[in-house]
Amino acid sequence: MPLNMLIVGAGVCGPAIAMLLQRSNPRHNITIVERSSTLRSTGQQIDLKNQAPHILRKMGLLDEIKALCVNETGLEVVDSAGKQIAYFGAAASGERRIGLTSEHEIMRGDMVQALYDASIKQNAELKVGPGQEINYIFGKTITSLDQSAQGVDVTFSDGREHLYDLVIGADGQYSRTRRLAFGQEISDASFKSLGVHAAYFSIPRIDGEGTLARGHLAPGRKMIYTRTSDRPVTGALLFTMQETPRLKASYKESVENQRKAFVEVFKDMDWQTDRLISGLKNSDDFYANELGQIKMDRLSTGRVVLLGDSGYCPSPFTGLGTNLCLVGAYVLAGELARQGNDVKGALKTYEEKMWPFIYECQQFSSRTMEFLFPSSRLGIWAMHNLIWAMSKVAGLFPQPQKRDNHDERLPEYPELKLPI
Ligand SMILES: Cc1cc2nc3c(=O)[nH]c(=O)nc-3n(C[C@H](O)[C@H](O)[C@H](O)COP(=O)(O)OP(=O)(O)OC[C@H]3O[C@@H](n4cnc5c(N)ncnc54)[C@H](O)[C@@H]3O)c2cc1C
Ligand SMILES: *[C@@H]1O[C@H](CO)[C@@H](O)[C@H](O)[C@H]1NC(C)=O
Ligand SMILES: *[C@@H]1O[C@H](CO)[C@@H](O)[C@H](O)[C@H]1NC(C)=O
Repeated sequence: MPLNMLIVGAGVCGPAIAMLLQRSNPRHNITIVERSSTLRSTGQQIDLKNQAPHILRKMGLLDEIKALCVNETGLEVVDSAGKQIAYFGAAASGERRIGLTSEHEIMRGDMVQALYDASIKQNAELKVGPGQEINYIFGKTITSLDQSAQGVDVTFSDGREHLYDLVIGADGQYSRTRRLAFGQEISDASFKSLGVHAAYFSIPRIDGEGTLARGHLAPGRKMIYTRTSDRPVTGALLFTMQETPRLKASYKESVENQRKAFVEVFKDMDWQTDRLISGLKNSDDFYANELGQIKMDRLSTGRVVLLGDSGYCPSPFTGLGTNLCLVGAYVLAGELARQGNDVKGALKTYEEKMWPFIYECQQFSSRTMEFLFPSSRLGIWAMHNLIWAMSKVAGLFPQPQKRDNHDERLPEYPELKLPI
């Protein structure tokens, strides 16, 4: 039975699940509403690991996505003079290895754009006609959700109302779908802060920067990365556990205030200061947030379901957010294809099948964070020794290349009619 569905958010998993759902049944009416007026293609590198490459392969998109991947050759940890303290190579997919670089890394913007383009292309091939296609609405959001026996009555920011059989909240860490469906209290309580504030932006590449990522620990609980790989610009990632009231408040204010708050915290950093401060002030893709995990007791209420960061953000520190959201898209679409006449049953099974993946990807605590962000110069010195030792051990005992069997844990869904 075809369903009339609304997906909130055209980030990574919104377009992905739209494609999976349409392929399983081209008669579905699939609307994606994105708050931003164009695709929001900012962000830095994201990892495609664990199940993510397998799902993209099943969708027939892996080769295309691989061609867009950046070629980062590893990570170098440096002191304030830029001297190498430790080096970690890139990991192959399926390999467990200490380091930053996975086999497949892609700029978030390229990933979002590729999935969006693929969904447009597929829609051109599979759409049945008006009301049986994928349809994007940009520059709008939802303002209320009312559930009844008939379905979910959604009000949009332009005042329009429409009834849907299912609403999928793929609107990220700060999900409004979550807040509207579960209430402000439950939604707020689901955010478990890691006590880390992050800013991501691009800066001009400098000569001889090479293809390694560089990482640096600065006094006052700051961690800084530059990541260039083979791109014409360098990505900068600034993390701090030094929380100022101004920083905390800035997220509810303006991007300008976020920039100022980060400048205040980072102005005395002891590595690449001028370059990074200039990027904080002037970059055109600045994005900042408080890192945390979303932990919900349930992923759906009635006919509203959460997908990706909105329901189970593991935090960028795990490098598994994209993996988890693609597993979610695959399982949710699979269960809806299998039990289409019983939407609530499908949502229940989706949730049951997701818990083990969510649990595994969220293995991380604010304790770990405290440890990773030494405060004093002495603490940094000790950390440098530890990192050095770890890099030597990793070099002496390279992990044998294990067969990548992450796909074995994915349920099979012939109902999705995937090419592979
Ligand atoms: C701008 C941005 C930059 C990021 N940068 C990084 C990064 O550098 N490294 C990293 O590891 N992770 C980053 N992330 C997070 C990463 O994209 C996710 O962890 C992961 O890919 C899961 O994606 P998702 O589709 O669940 O959510 P997201 O990728 O966050 O996508 C959510 C989408 O929903 C839209 N949206 C939000 N609220 C509403 C609303 N009320 N109505 C309609 N649409 C709405 C957003 O504009 C966005 O397009 C970033 C996310 C964003 C939004
Ligand atoms: C990375 O290298 C591969 C193979 O050499 C290439 O196909 C790809 O385009 C490169 N990525 C970028 C972003 O240049
Ligand atoms: C399909 O969705 C669009 C947008 O939400 C809506 O305007 C249209 O009426 C829907 N069509 C059907 C047949 O449900």
